[in-house]
Amino acid sequence: MNHLNHVAIIMDGNGRWGLKHKNSRNAGHKAGLKSVDAIIRESVKNKIKYLTLFAFSTENWKRPKKEINYLFNLLEIFLKDKINALNKQNIKLKIIGIKNFSSRLNKLLVKCENKTKKNKQLQINLALNYGSKSELLNAFKKFRKSKKKLNEENFQNYLQTKDIPDPDILIRTGNTQRLSNFLLWQIAYSEIFFEKKLWPDFNKKDYNRIIKKFKSIKRNFGNV
Ligand code: FPP
Repeated sequence: MNHLNHVAIIMDGNGRWGLKHKNSRNAGHKAGLKSVDAIIRESVKNKIKYLTLFAFSTENWKRPKKEINYLFNLLEIFLKDKINALNKQNIKLKIIGIKNFSSRLNKLLVKCENKTKKNKQLQINLALNYGSKSELLNAFKKFRKSKKKLNEENFQNYLQTKDIPDPDILIRTGNTQRLSNFLLWQIAYSEIFFEKKLWPDFNKKDYNRIIKKFKSIKRNFGNV
């Protein structure tokens, strides 16, 4: 049976859910937070050590300003509301992506990271202003200066995910089968699950079904 250490999720479908149920994309983002809560809870129950959530990509800046503002406001409220409870549950929060938001949000993110940095139960990697191609380019630039021998092990120390093992599972909700510039290096051997449900409808039963399926898969890593 496979050991499950790291789950990465592309939480897609909030906008469509919001339009369908409340005639507002933003209502979908708000509803998506309930799924975030449920998946964090189930990850702890399943003793998963890393949960990486794609909350905002480098490409999401193309969205209408009103939606972007709503998303970051939601994030701020979520963090202020939950950080103490996450800390009590021994959960560590790490941001991957470039923190170039308002100085208020940047400060809050650093504060949450510092507060929880010693926690060991579960590490949540929140991907914010994250794009895999830009992560790889920045890593190559830094690597070149280092004069180190180019191999996988040395190179991955320059990624934002250094010290984080590669995801065992990648889940994408929202009935779309694409990777959207997410963790392209890191998912080389991940098991990928594309889910029809929109993110706000994705629940603990769906998550546990995927976990169960993953545990029974024969993983070869190129071997036979
Ligand atoms: C993709 O759905 C979702 C996002 C770009 C944002 C994800 C954000 C949340 C779940 C809430 C905030 C998260 C945290 C952790 C505070 P979409 O808008 O692309 O949906 P669509 O494909 O239906 O348009």
